[in-house]
Amino acid sequence: MSPTARPIGVFDSGVGGLTVLRHIRAALPAEDLLYVADSAHAPYGVKSPQFIEARALAIAEFLVARDAKALVVACNTATAAAISRLRERFDLPVVGMEPAVKPAAEATRTGVIGVLATSGTLESGKFADLVGRFGSQARVIVQPCPGLVERIEAGDLTGPLTRRLLEGFVAPLLEAEADTLVLGCTHYPFLEPLLRELAGEQVAIIESGAAVARQLARRLAETDFLAARPAGSERFFSSGEPGLLEALLPRLWGSAAQVGRLTGG
Ligand code: DGL
Repeated sequence: MSPTARPIGVFDSGVGGLTVLRHIRAALPAEDLLYVADSAHAPYGVKSPQFIEARALAIAEFLVARDAKALVVACNTATAAAISRLRERFDLPVVGMEPAVKPAAEATRTGVIGVLATSGTLESGKFADLVGRFGSQARVIVQPCPGLVERIEAGDLTGPLTRRLLEGFVAPLLEAEADTLVLGCTHYPFLEPLLRELAGEQVAIIESGAAVARQLARRLAETDFLAARPAGSERFFSSGEPGLLEALLPRLWGSAAQVGRLTGG
């Protein structure tokens, strides 16, 4: 198949990467997209970097076997744990993500930013480097959010348990006068309406999905890999029970779709 016609492979521990996929779809309407939710192994945030690296390699093999021309690690935790290894292993554009500390440090007026992310991301060397590069411009307060990804995987975006958890994570950041909150996990943009309600209109909420889609478009343009068809398609796969993702897609993706089983991963 000519490189331009090949699909783009995108993956996350579960449904979080769909918040990135929607930016990719908007930026690159002609591309065919393959999405893998590693739901049998979610959440990644509390697992070892070695485990996540092994999962990322297995999923990337699956996507490359389906002729992916580029890979997007639509997960901050997996990027921190595995992107170097993926880039060594695969001779393709591999685009990852990191919490938007740089734009937040540039935007804050109080000089305090709050970063909500998984423990895996916040404890990684990559995150320490990021704060080392931009942390001098602002005070960076980190907030791990145990339990939140599980609520989102269960499709609970507004219920009392989710609200209570999020409230508890955000309150210390607001008390410390953070005026800019970084969503450093791709699951969290699903909670943006709730977060907006809890944090108020004055607080800026920043995520990285649009920047990742722009970076992917740049990489494909550089390699002359951009698709030329009028409209692309999406195909979804899960390492968990496909019916569970099928039930969530209408709400989290905006339309129903069949979900295939992740095989060989
Ligand atoms: N969506 C992921 C991230 O961006 C991982 C969440 C998890 O599985 O813990 O970090």
